[in-house]
Amino acid sequence: GAPLDVDLSPIQDGQIVNVFWRGKLIFVRKLTEKEVTDMKAVSLSDMIDPATFDSRVKKGHDQWLVSYGNCTHLGCVPIGHSGNYEGWSCPCHGSQFDAVGRVRRGPAPTNLPIPPYAFETDTKIKIG
Ligand code: FES
Repeated sequence: GAPLDVDLSPIQDGQIVNVFWRGKLIFVRKLTEKEVTDMKAVSLSDMIDPATFDSRVKKGHDQWLVSYGNCTHLGCVPIGHSGNYEGWSCPCHGSQFDAVGRVRRGPAPTNLPIPPYAFETDTKIKIG
């Protein structure tokens, strides 16, 4: 499939936008400063699938999460801004993800995967 350009400029702090690339749901989320601070502070030992903050975002673009949008358990779509970790909770079996898509409560076994993408400018990404 063709790459997908996403204009970030209309996305507000805290907002999650859904886009589709190659038929897959992708979340584009602009973290608040508080969410960035909180997500950087989480201990790896508190995670099911340990991943540093830096591994979840692009260098120099700390406020942006781009992840696939289907639960890594059985594929339901988690609901944003719900659960206990400033992220998502899955309506199917209760998995919870934090603001950078790391699984924090099962049964989902792994973090929301990050698709291939790059910043073209500070306000535009290309997915794919
Ligand atoms: Fe999300 Fe089962 S599909 S918890």
